[in-house]
Amino acid sequence: ISVLDNKPGAHISPSMWGVFFEDINFAADGGLYAELVKNRSFEFPMPMMGWDEKELNGADASLLVVNRSLANTSNPRYAVVTMKKNEGAFVLTNEGFRGMGLTKDESYNFSIMAHAVEGDVKIKVQAVNEKNEPIGEASLDAVKGGWNTYRTSFKCTATAAKGKLNVIFEGKGVVEIDMLSLFPQHTWKQRPNGLRADLVQKLADLHPGFVRFPGGCIVEGRELANRYQWKKTVGDIAERQLIMNRWNVEFSYRNAPDYYQSFGLGFFEYFQLCEDIGATALPILNCGMACQYNSAEVASLNQTDEYIQDALDLVEFANGSTSTKWGGLRASLGHPAPFNLKMVGIGNEQWGEQYLERYKLFAAAMKQKHPEIKLVASAGPGPDGDQFDYLTKVMRQEKANLIDEHYYRSPKWFLNNAARYDNYDRKVSKVFAGEYAAHIMDEDQKDTHAESHNTWWAALSEAAFMTGLERNADMVQLASYAPLLAHVDAWQWRPDLIWFNNLQSVATPNYYVQQLFSTNKGTRVIPALADGKVLAGQDSLYCSATVDSVNNRIIIKLINAAEQSKQISFDMTGKKSAFKQATWTKIATMNKLAFNSIDNPDVVKPVSQKMKWSNKQTVTIEPLSANVFVLPYR
Ligand code: AHR
Repeated sequence: ISVLDNKPGAHISPSMWGVFFEDINFAADGGLYAELVKNRSFEFPMPMMGWDEKELNGADASLLVVNRSLANTSNPRYAVVTMKKNEGAFVLTNEGFRGMGLTKDESYNFSIMAHAVEGDVKIKVQAVNEKNEPIGEASLDAVKGGWNTYRTSFKCTATAAKGKLNVIFEGKGVVEIDMLSLFPQHTWKQRPNGLRADLVQKLADLHPGFVRFPGGCIVEGRELANRYQWKKTVGDIAERQLIMNRWNVEFSYRNAPDYYQSFGLGFFEYFQLCEDIGATALPILNCGMACQYNSAEVASLNQTDEYIQDALDLVEFANGSTSTKWGGLRASLGHPAPFNLKMVGIGNEQWGEQYLERYKLFAAAMKQKHPEIKLVASAGPGPDGDQFDYLTKVMRQEKANLIDEHYYRSPKWFLNNAARYDNYDRKVSKVFAGEYAAHIMDEDQKDTHAESHNTWWAALSEAAFMTGLERNADMVQLASYAPLLAHVDAWQWRPDLIWFNNLQSVATPNYYVQQLFSTNKGTRVIPALADGKVLAGQDSLYCSATVDSVNNRIIIKLINAAEQSKQISFDMTGKKSAFKQATWTKIATMNKLAFNSIDNPDVVKPVSQKMKWSNKQTVTIEPLSANVFVLPYR
């Protein structure tokens, strides 16, 4: 392979390798969002879903859920606890999101909104393990007078992966309660109402160039009433109106009738997360269409103004001066500095004439008011076929800055498509590979682990494909694997990049492939040629190379998808070439079906070694391996 470092080609977008966050598989509530109480405000359509109640030791009590929807549309429900006699205790138990993860020696903050209506009712909280043994408890100050928030905290004496929370009422009287919440004290950056630190750390370790959020199909909703509306996700968390998650499904192992969106993780938190991990924000907005796989409901063309205004206001929220309405809101939430929003997606995975009509209205308004913002257009579910060709053709005519292509295909497809962008129409729009993952068939993997579809073979085929994305960095400017996160006990879609339970998380082989590319990006593409041609599958080899002018090094990525090892001779023919040593990082295993699980997280992972390097260097490449050679200039 000749590596020509004196012929730098396309510039690589600094945001090239990013992540796509969608609240699917309990990724937000029950996942990244560290709240442990499910249905904390009784707003699920079945108001006591997730809650259990019992009277103990002769108590005579009742609980009534009251709806004040005329007075409060965003947080209509609260509960009234009546303790009829001063005896025993009334216990409300919350089951958490498939249990609560509670950790020994960790402190937990409990809060509740309460209103003392009459008498004297005392409230205590108690964390219990799987055997209902108490592992942490605390009392609240006496509830007095009108609505107020009461707080207390406790430390757990033991760890429980599927614990629960008891809220215990004693005394005689009537108390109204709302927003019962339990957070670990240790969240990402110790923020109240914060995010699960181990999961954010996994995202940060990918050094993503961008975060696409909040979805996916949840942007669209099953019907328009359940679409994602960013304005309802910012400000006081008690006033963020809960809706049904598009992935609230009831069948087999994907059963999730209790999947709702509390929006505790809302748009302000998304922007903050992007900033924390050094990623550019890429919000995707509803374009006036509900999910076309479900209701396919659309807003009539003369009613899209509200949707378009949401997009314009989002730019003001992210970037506007603090003297504007939405910029002022951002400042009041603690972030006067702009978030530096640069791009916005119009619609998720939409297709057809209805999409085009709506996209054009959005694009006209955005280009007029915010020409500085790049627009990302959908290419439908893609990646092939008449609909895809038609949409991409029109979107280029419309001069969309980026076109969002999605491909969930077999490993074979990924291997066969490493040259997909070599001869692409380069005239107008760039490509955003917004959702991709190699999918194996169920029958290929009988293992019962949720994580078992994240095989090494799938990850290796993605790595091969990604060399093609990188080689065409003039064309492909953003790319993200999908979906990102999945709870092992509450998933609706697999494979996923990171799996987690209530206490731990595991990086998949696919994660390590993403990390290999994102942390070894480079600034410009350079040719890496075999017999004068790019290596895009000949002899099952795939190669791309970049120069990194910031860190003064050359990076070569070489994927061997064959089951045999290969002797590869590198010929560093550029003028600048003068190398002495290299760092060789590889991921390799002969077991195509190998995967990482929470119980066994290190089956497939990268290993690095230093090696000598000369300008004519021969290396033996392992079978089924992804390799990155980093060569610092002397
Ligand atoms: O990533 C899962 C789903 O796949 C997304 O919600 C949607 O955009 C696509 O169909």
